[in-house]
Amino acid sequence: MEKTLLFIKPDGVKRKIVGEIFSILEKNFTIEGIRMVRMDRTTAEKFYEMHTGKPFFESLVEYITSGTIVAVLLSGKNVVKRLREIVGSTDPKKAKQGTLRNLYGIDIQKNTVHASDSIKSAKREISFFFKKGKNENIDIKLR
Ligand code: PPS
Repeated sequence: MEKTLLFIKPDGVKRKIVGEIFSILEKNFTIEGIRMVRMDRTTAEKFYEMHTGKPFFESLVEYITSGTIVAVLLSGKNVVKRLREIVGSTDPKKAKQGTLRNLYGIDIQKNTVHASDSIKSAKREISFFFKKGKNENIDIKLR
C-alpha cells in the first residue's frame, strides 16, 4: 500500500488542533505511525535542502525548529496525491475551501501541515521520522 508523510507544524501543535487534524486524516487514510518530535537545525536544513538559498529558507528553518511537530505516517490508495488535495495550496489564502490549510493555516510559513509532494519525496521524508525495525516501546522517554 502507498505511504506518505504528513507533519503538523509548530503552529498547529501550539494551537491544540492536532485532534481535529487527526480526525480528518483518519476519515480518509490509515494512520501507520505517529511521532511527536522537535527537529534540530541540522535535520531541518537537510529536510528542506531543496529550498537552500531561497529568501525564506532561514526563516523556514527557524520556524520549523521553534517547537514540537507531530509526524504522521499514512497509508492508503493514491495517498500521496489524495493527501495533497486534502492539505491544499502552500499559501492558505490560495488554498481551496475545506482543505486543511484553508481551515487552519495562518500564513505561507505557518501553514499548519507539511505533506510529501511525490512518491519519491514521501520515501525520503518518511525516513527522517520512521525507521524499519525500531523498537516502538522505547520511543517515549519519561522525564
Ligand atoms: S516553492 O515556492 O515552490 O519553493 O514553495 P513550496 O515547495 O510550495 O513550499 C516551500 C516550503 O517553504 C515554506 N515557506 C515558504 N514558501 C514560499 N514562500 C515563503 N515566503 C515561505 N515561507 C515559508 C512553505 O510553508 C513550504 O513548507 P512545506 O513544509 O513544504 O509545506
